[in-house]
Amino acid sequence: MSDIRHVSGDERLRTAFTLYPYAFDESPSPDAAEGLASILPFHEGNHTLIAEDGGRTLATAAAIPTHQNLRGIVMRMAGIAWVATHPAARRQGHCRRLMRQLHRDMLDTGHLLATLYPFHPSFYEQLGYVGLPLNRTATFAPEGLAPLLGVELPGDVSWQGIQDGFEVYRAFQRRLLAQRHGFMFTPDYRAARILAPADRWLAVASVDGEVVGVLTYRIDGYGGRLHGDELLYTNGLGRALLLQFLAQHVHQVAQIAVTVAPDEHPETWAGSLAVRTEARAAFPTSPPLMGRLLSMDALRDVPCGSGRTQIEIVEDELLAGRYLLDGTRGTIDVTVAGQAGERATLTAAGLSGLAYGVLDPADVVARGLGDISDNVAAELRALLPRRTPYAFGKG
Ligand SMILES: CC(C)(COP(=O)(O)OP(=O)(O)OC[C@H]1O[C@@H](n2cnc3c(N)ncnc32)[C@H](O)[C@@H]1OP(=O)(O)O)[C@@H](O)C(=O)NCCC(=O)NCCS
Repeated sequence: MSDIRHVSGDERLRTAFTLYPYAFDESPSPDAAEGLASILPFHEGNHTLIAEDGGRTLATAAAIPTHQNLRGIVMRMAGIAWVATHPAARRQGHCRRLMRQLHRDMLDTGHLLATLYPFHPSFYEQLGYVGLPLNRTATFAPEGLAPLLGVELPGDVSWQGIQDGFEVYRAFQRRLLAQRHGFMFTPDYRAARILAPADRWLAVASVDGEVVGVLTYRIDGYGGRLHGDELLYTNGLGRALLLQFLAQHVHQVAQIAVTVAPDEHPETWAGSLAVRTEARAAFPTSPPLMGRLLSMDALRDVPCGSGRTQIEIVEDELLAGRYLLDGTRGTIDVTVAGQAGERATLTAAGLSGLAYGVLDPADVVARGLGDISDNVAAELRALLPRRTPYAFGKG
C-alpha cells in the first residue's frame, strides 16, 4: 500500500512534477525537466499531495487555494488540478484516494467548495461533482461591429501590455468576484502566469475613472485573428465600450474571437453582426468545469427564496447526514434534522447541482442524483432557484 504525503517547495520537482510531462504534454521531450523548473513559482501556494511507494512517486494531485462566489457569497474554493498517475500504477485507486485526502485537507483549511476540469466526468460525479455550463466563444469579423463606431459613449478605453495593466486587471477581477455567481479569483502567484510570456494586450474600459470592463487578448498577425480571452464587464456600457474598441480593428484583422458567458447573446451586440457562438464539450481536451460543496457550511446564510425542507445527503463522506434547510428569513439556515418528516434524498453531486443553480430538482431526479417528491421539489426550487454560474476567472 502506498503512503500519501504533502510536498512543497522544490521537492515537487523530484516528486509530483516527474509525472506531469507524460500525463499532460507531448512526449518524450528532452526539455521537459527544464520547463518544469521554470513553472515552479506558479505552484508556490498549491497544496500538492503525492502517493509514493519506497520513495517512488506513483500519483499526485494538487489544490490551488482560490475564491469563488456562490449565490452572492464569496468563499474559499479548492481549485483541483495536476492530477496524474504513473502509467504503470493506474487503475489501482491512487487518484481516488488522493482526491479524498485533498478534500479533507482543503476543508480543514476553510475551503467550502472545490472545482476541477475533469478527464472523465462520471468518475468525479461519484466524488460529488456536477458539471457547470461552458463559456462560449463568439467569432466574428470586426466589420459586423461597425455600426457601434458611430455611437457617442460616455467613457473611454485605454490600451496597454498586460505587464503594465496587471494590477488594474486583477482589481477588476476581484470586483467581479464579489458580484457574479460562479466567478473565481485565483491567488496572485498563479495569476502571475499571464506575465511570464507577457503575450497579452489589455483593453480597459472606464467611465469617469471607474473601470467598467476589461479584455486581455493577442493578435496572431496582420490580416489574421484577434484572440480575446474572457470578455469581462460590470454593465452594458462596459461591454459596449470594449466592443467599440474591437470594431476599430477592422482592416487589421479578419476575425475576432472572444470568450463570453453562457447566457451572453452576441447576435444582439449590433444589428448587422454575423457571428458564430459556440461551446464544445470534449474530454479531456475541452471539459466544462465541475464543482462541488465540501461542506454544508457553503449553504449557510446564502441568499434564497422562502422555502423550507429537509434533505438527506447519501454516499458522501463529507456531507452525509440529514439537514433542515430553512429560507424563511431570506437566507439559508442549515441545521441537523431528526428522523421525522418528508425529505429529499440527494447525492453530493445532486446537492451541488442545486447549490450552483445548474440543476432544477426535476433535473436532479432525471439525472439519477436524487429522489425528490413534488412537495419537496417546490420547496427546494424556492430555496435554490436555477442560476447561471459564470465560470470566469480562469487564470
Ligand atoms: C486520470 C488518472 C489520474 C487516473 O488515475 P488512477 O490512479 O488510475 O485512477 P483510479 O485508479 O483512482 O481510478 C479512478 C477511476 O477513474 C476511471 N479511470 C481511470 N483510468 C481510466 C481509463 N484509462 N479509462 C477510463 N476510466 C478510467 C475509472 O472510473 C476508475 O474507477 P474504477 O477503477 O473503479 O473503474 C490517470 O489515468 C492519468 O494520469 N491520466 C493522464 C492525466 C489526466 O488525465 N489527469 C486527470 C486530469 S482531471
